[in-house]
Amino acid sequence: MTVTHQPRSDYPSIVESSLAALDLDVKTRLLSGQDLWSLPALPQIGLRSLVMSDGPVGVRGDGWSSDDPSLTLPSPTALAATWDPETARRAGQVLAQEAHRKGVHMLLAPTINMHRSPLGGRHFETYSEDPLLTARIGGGYVTGVQESGVAATIKHFVANDAESLRFTVNNQVPARALREMYLAPFEDIIATARPWAVMSAYNSVNNTTMSAHRDLQVGVLREQWGFDGVVVSDWLAARDTVAAAEGGLDIAMPGPTTVFGPALAAAVRAGLVAESVVDNAVRHVLLLAARLGLLRGAAPMAPESERPALIDGPALARDIAARSFVMVRNENASLPLRPSTIGSVALIGCAARDARVLGGGSATVFPAHIVSPLDGLRAALPAETILTYAVGADTRDGLESATTGFALSALLRDEAGRVLAEQPLTVGRVRWMDNALPGGIDYDKLSSVELVDTFTPRESGPHQFGISGLGAFQLRVDDRAVFDGVHELAEDADPFEALMGKPTPHGSVALEAGRTVTVSLRNTTPKGGIGPIQGVSFGLALREPRTDDEQLLTEAVTAAAAADVAVVVVATTDTQESEGFDRTDLRLPGRQDELVARVAAVNPRTIVVVNTGSPVELPWRDDVSAILLTWFPGQEGGAALAEVLLGQREPGGRLPTTWPSDLADAPVSEVTPDDGVLRYDEGIFIGYRAWQRGQVRPAYPFGHGLGYTDWSYDGIGLDARTARIRLRNTGGRRGREIIQLYIAAEEFDAARPHRWLAGFAAVEAEPGADVEAEIVLPDRAFQIWDTKCDTWTVVPGNYHVQAGRSVEDVRVSTTIRIDAAG
Ligand code: BGC
Repeated sequence: MTVTHQPRSDYPSIVESSLAALDLDVKTRLLSGQDLWSLPALPQIGLRSLVMSDGPVGVRGDGWSSDDPSLTLPSPTALAATWDPETARRAGQVLAQEAHRKGVHMLLAPTINMHRSPLGGRHFETYSEDPLLTARIGGGYVTGVQESGVAATIKHFVANDAESLRFTVNNQVPARALREMYLAPFEDIIATARPWAVMSAYNSVNNTTMSAHRDLQVGVLREQWGFDGVVVSDWLAARDTVAAAEGGLDIAMPGPTTVFGPALAAAVRAGLVAESVVDNAVRHVLLLAARLGLLRGAAPMAPESERPALIDGPALARDIAARSFVMVRNENASLPLRPSTIGSVALIGCAARDARVLGGGSATVFPAHIVSPLDGLRAALPAETILTYAVGADTRDGLESATTGFALSALLRDEAGRVLAEQPLTVGRVRWMDNALPGGIDYDKLSSVELVDTFTPRESGPHQFGISGLGAFQLRVDDRAVFDGVHELAEDADPFEALMGKPTPHGSVALEAGRTVTVSLRNTTPKGGIGPIQGVSFGLALREPRTDDEQLLTEAVTAAAAADVAVVVVATTDTQESEGFDRTDLRLPGRQDELVARVAAVNPRTIVVVNTGSPVELPWRDDVSAILLTWFPGQEGGAALAEVLLGQREPGGRLPTTWPSDLADAPVSEVTPDDGVLRYDEGIFIGYRAWQRGQVRPAYPFGHGLGYTDWSYDGIGLDARTARIRLRNTGGRRGREIIQLYIAAEEFDAARPHRWLAGFAAVEAEPGADVEAEIVLPDRAFQIWDTKCDTWTVVPGNYHVQAGRSVEDVRVSTTIRIDAAG
C-alpha cells in the first residue's frame, strides 16, 4: 500500500502568509462551524468553504434526506470481515469519488473505536475487537479516501466504545489498556496512512472530557505521534471555550454558535487564551485546506489527474458484500445451492423482502435503490426454480419512514401558496438546512412544505400513519383528515430530536392492497431547529397492517415444508442497532428464533442468513444446515447474497469479533455507567483476549469463517521477522484463504493474553495448488506498554509463531527468540 505523502514543501509558507493576513475575529470564526457541516469561506485569503459529511458507509452530503441519494456500502463490521486492507482502500476511493460528486471535502469516517462490549450501540459502525485488524482496515480506508483528494477523519478519539450517556460518561481506562487497545489503532493509522483529521469524542477519559484533553490531544497525538492534521470536535461535544482551546481542539462543530468563534476571540482578549493557541489551530485548518486545494496558491495533495481511476460504485458494493459474508456453519456442504438439483426454494423473513442494509444514526445515508434478498434470488435463480416468499415473523415494531409503495414529492410554497420548488423523494422524510433548500430557494420566502402524491398498499387492512418532526401539520389520506395539529418539543428532549426523533402515530386508515390512494402531509411551520441550526426537518411514517403472528409462522412453516431448501433471513431492527443508545440484549427481535426452529424442524436443508451489524444469539445454531452472517450488506446486499448462495462467489469473510452463544457468557458486556463512570477494569482483556481466559467457549471464535474449498497448512518457516506459511488448496474449487498469524509467549504470563494477532494475509489458489503466504511480524507484537516508564517495552523471551484459520484453530507453529533489544 502506498503511503499518502508528506505535505507539499510550499504549504508552510502559504499557510504562514495566509495566517498573517487574518485578524483575531476572522481567525476564531474559521475555527467554528458556520452551519451543521461547513467552515466559513475567507475570500480575503482565497480560502473556500470546507464541507464535511458523515461517513462511514456512504457520503450523505450536506443534506439528510433521500433527495440526495448516496452509494451505500456494507457496514464497517462487514468491511473488517473481509480482512483485506486493499478492499478497504477501494471502499475509501469510491467514497472519495462520492464526496467529489457531492462537494464534500472531509469525510467524517472511519470509526475506529473498539468492540469492547457486544452491546455497544455503534458496534456495527466500528471494525473489530482487535487493534491490529482495526488499524489495518482503517488504514486502508484512510489511504483510499486521501489518495483520492478527500480528507479522512478517524473518530472518535478515544474510548467512545459505547453510547449510554455518551455526552458525559467518564471512562476509567487503565494506562496499559488505553495504549494497547484503544489508542493503538489511532497511533498505527496516523503512522501509516497519515489521516488529515481526527474527531475527538464526547466522553471523558480518566476524568477529562476528550475535546479538552490536553494530555491526549496535544501530548500523545501531536507531540508523541507527530499528527499534523486538524482535531475537530464531535457534534456539540465542545462545551468550554478555554478548556477546548487549551486542550488542543482546532474546530468546534456544528455552527453557527459554538464555544469558538466570538467566544474564543473574547477569551483571547480577556487574557484567558494565548493568541498563539488560536494561531496554531488556524495553521492546522489552513494546512488541511491546502491539502484539499481549497486555499489560494496551494496545489492539492491529490490533483484530479493523479486520482485513482473511476470506480463502478454498485459493482464494488456488491463485491465487498460477498467478500464480507462469513459462513460460520455448513453441514454436509449444504451450500452452495446447485440450482440444477433444486426444484424449489422457500425464502422466509421480514428482512428478506425489506432488507436491512445499514445501521442507524449519523451513519445513515439514503441509497438510490436497494437489492433485497428476494430481489437478488429472484433475478439469479433459473426460471424453472420455484421461489416462494413468506414473512414468517414480523419484526417491525413501530412506524417506519414512508417508502415502499409511496410516490412522493415535496412541494415548497411561499405565503401566497405559489410552488417555489418541487423535489421528488424516495423516502418521505426531508431534512434541509436554511442555506440548502431544493432549487436554491430563499429560506425567508418559504411558508409551507407539503409531501404529496400517492400510496399503493401491498396489504389490505388498517394502515397507521404518523409524523416525525416539530411544528404544525395537516395529514390527509384520500379525503380523510388524519391529523391537524402541532408537535411540540419535550422539555428534556435530545438536541437532535428534530433530526433523529421517532415518529408519532396519528390514526389508522383501512386500505386495500393494490388500490392507490392520495396522501398529503403539509407542514405549515416548516422552519425550525435542526439541532442548533435553522432548517426544515420532518417526515411521513407508516405502519403496515400486521398479520397475526401465529398465522405468519404457520404460512412460513408450510412454505418451508413444501420446498427443497428453506432460506430464512433473520435481522435486527433500527431500534436495536443505532446511535445514541446501547443494546440491552443480543436476542433477535420478535419471534424469529422460534421461526428458525420451526422451519428447521420441517426442512432438513435450512439455511439461515443473519442480517445484523453485530453479534446476536443464535440459539438454534446447531439445528440448521448452514449459517451465513451477512452484516448490514449495503445497497447491493441481495445480489451478493444470491451469488454466494448459488456458489458463483465464495463467502469470503472471517469474524472480526467473537460471537458469544449467550450474552451472559461475554467476558465484557457492561455499557451502563455507574454514577456517570464506566470502568474498563478488564484492562487489555477484551474480545478473544478475554475469552481465552475463561472456561466457556463462544459460539464462533474470532477469525472463524468457512469458504467453499478446503485448505491444508503444510508448514511455517521464519526468515528473520518474515513468516512463510505453506498451504495447499485440498478442496474441489478455486478459493481464497485468510491466513492469520498469532503470537503466544512460551512462558505463560497472566498479564498477557494466551495468544494475540500479529498479522494476516490472503492467498488464492486453484484446487490442488500449493501457495505460500508471507507475513511480516511487527515490532509491536513483542512489546507492551510499560506503565512505570510510560513507554513501549520489549518483553524478551521465546515465542510461538502460530498460523491458522481462527484464534482457536491454529494449524502450524514455529518459535522465535526475542531479546531485550527487540
Ligand atoms: C456522531 C459522529 C458524527 C457527527 C455528525 C455525532 O453525533 O457521534 O460520529 O460524525 O454526529 O453527524
